[in-house]
Amino acid sequence: MIRSVFRGVGTALPRRVVSNDELAQQLDTSDQWIRERTGITQRYIAGEGETTGTLATAAARAALADAGIDAAEIDLIVLATATPDSTFPATATQVQHALGCGGAAFDLAAVCSGFLYALGTADSMIRTGMAKTALVIGAETFSRILDWEDRATCVLFGDGAGAFVLQGQEVPADGPGILATKLYADGQHRDLLYVDGGVSTTGTIGKLRMKGREVFRHAVVNLAEVLTEVLEMAGRPAEAIDWVVPHQANFRILEATARKLGLPQDRFVVTVDRHANTSAASVPLAFAVARADGRIKPGDLVMLEAMGGGFTWGASLLQM
Ligand code: ACO
Repeated sequence: MIRSVFRGVGTALPRRVVSNDELAQQLDTSDQWIRERTGITQRYIAGEGETTGTLATAAARAALADAGIDAAEIDLIVLATATPDSTFPATATQVQHALGCGGAAFDLAAVCSGFLYALGTADSMIRTGMAKTALVIGAETFSRILDWEDRATCVLFGDGAGAFVLQGQEVPADGPGILATKLYADGQHRDLLYVDGGVSTTGTIGKLRMKGREVFRHAVVNLAEVLTEVLEMAGRPAEAIDWVVPHQANFRILEATARKLGLPQDRFVVTVDRHANTSAASVPLAFAVARADGRIKPGDLVMLEAMGGGFTWGASLLQM
C-alpha cells in the first residue's frame, strides 16, 4: 500500500525572545500568573523583516535538509496559517518560489488545527497519487493580530514555523507512514475564539478575541474523543502510543487530556513553556524538539493532535 511516510522536519523561530517578566513591565500581569495558568515562560515575537512567509521558507529549507531531499522533488506545498503575508497570493506560493520547486502550492486556514488539516490534506493527495513529495507547513505571526492591551490573550501566543516533508512510498501494512487522520469542525462556537476583523467585513485585520475558560472546556472533551477515534481507525490501543505531540496551547489542557486518555503525562511532548501558543506551527515545532533530543525515534508511534478556532480539531497517528 502507498502511505505518506515522514522524511524530515524543520523549524524557524523569530530572533527576539520575550519573557513573561518583559510583558509584566507593560501589562498588569506577572510571571507567576502566566506560569501557573499556562506553563508559558517565554515566547518568540517576529521583528522587522520576519513574516509568516520568511519563517515558513526557513522551516521548509530546514525540513528539506533534514530529509536529504532536493527542493526539485517537491510537488506539493500545503501551508497552514491564519496570519498570511497577504490576502492573496497564498503564502505557500511565496515559499514555492523561494525554494524553486514546482507542483501545487496553497494555504489552508484552520487556525490552531491548521497543521493537522494540512497533514490530512497532503496525506490524501499523496495516497490518491495527486502528489508524491509534499511540504506540510504550519507558520504564524500571531503577534500581529494580538491586542497587546488585553492581558487575557496577548500573554498566551508566540510566532514561529514548522514543516514536515512527507513522501508517498509503497510500504507493508506494518510499515511506516500516516496510519489514520480524523478532522472535525463546529462553527457554532465562533464567538469563543475569533478575530474581530476581516477583508470582507470590516476591511481591517482585526484582533484575536477569546473566552479562554470556555475554549479550555471544549478542548479537553474534543481532543480526548478524536484521539480515541483515530486509535480505533488504526486498530491500535492507547498504550501503543510512544509520544503524543499536542498543539501547545496550555500545559493544563495537556494534563487534562492525558488524564482523560489514561496516558502518562511524560508521553506528552511539552514545549508551550518556551514557544507559547504558536497556532498552526506548534505541533511541528514540538515534534522537532522531541526528535532532536532523541525522544522520537524510528519505529515509534506518534499521535499528533490539535484544537483551535472555528472550532476545528483533529488528530493523526504517525508510524515513524
Ligand atoms: N495576568 C494576570 N491576571 C490575568 C491575566 C494575566 N495575563 N489574564 C487574565 N487574568 C485575570 C482575569 O482578569 C481574571 O481576574 P478576575 O477573577 O479578577 O476577573 C482571572 O485572571 C481569571 O481569569 P480566567 O480567564 O477565568 O482565568 P483561567 O483560569 O480560565 O485562565 C486561560 C485563563 C489561561 C486563558 C485559560 O482559560 C486557558 O488556557 N484557556 C484555554 C485557552 C486556549 O488554550 N486557547 C487556545 C486554544 S485554541 C488555540 O490555540 C487558538
